[in-house]
Amino acid sequence: MLSCVISGCEPQRPAVPAALLSSSKARRAGARLFAEHCAICHGAQGNGEGLRGNGMMPPPANLTMPPWAQRRHAARTFLAIRNGVGQTAMAPWPMLSERQTWQLVAYIESLGEGSSAGGRRQCTNCRSVRR
Ligand code: HEC
Repeated sequence: MLSCVISGCEPQRPAVPAALLSSSKARRAGARLFAEHCAICHGAQGNGEGLRGNGMMPPPANLTMPPWAQRRHAARTFLAIRNGVGQTAMAPWPMLSERQTWQLVAYIESLGEGSSAGGRRQCTNCRSVRR
């Protein structure tokens, strides 16, 4: 399955489960998964200031910023978690089910709500984002 190694086994654009993303139950489940697996680098609030992130190059992404906290980028966020980001500390998470991965996306999306992050500011340290 060499092609899976190169491109990942996910379709390029997974179908976004909109209902799941809006459900508060999924967001809570995502928050628990995030605290368990991701907060160490991305910070409990997802702002990129986790303990292990210190000195990391590139630093863990601030997930409260666009594009990560935006619904229209949900598929991309999903793939970043599923496949990781090459040449960074962001590893792939194939051990999480697709459902758990979408729950994480739902949680990350909720981070952008009610903050000033919804505006025009752009993520400055996210390589997989086309500028
Ligand atoms: C070992 C530290 C570490 C852990 C643990 C970690 N990340 Fe990351 N993450 C990073 C780094 C470093 C980047 C920045 C990559 C970059 O600059 O492109 C990143 C980037 C991201 C991005 C943006 C992808 C991109 O293209 O920049 C998302 C979304 C993300 N992480 C989600 C998660 C989630 C969800 C978890 C838990 C399942 C998690 N991360 C666990 C270090 C970590």
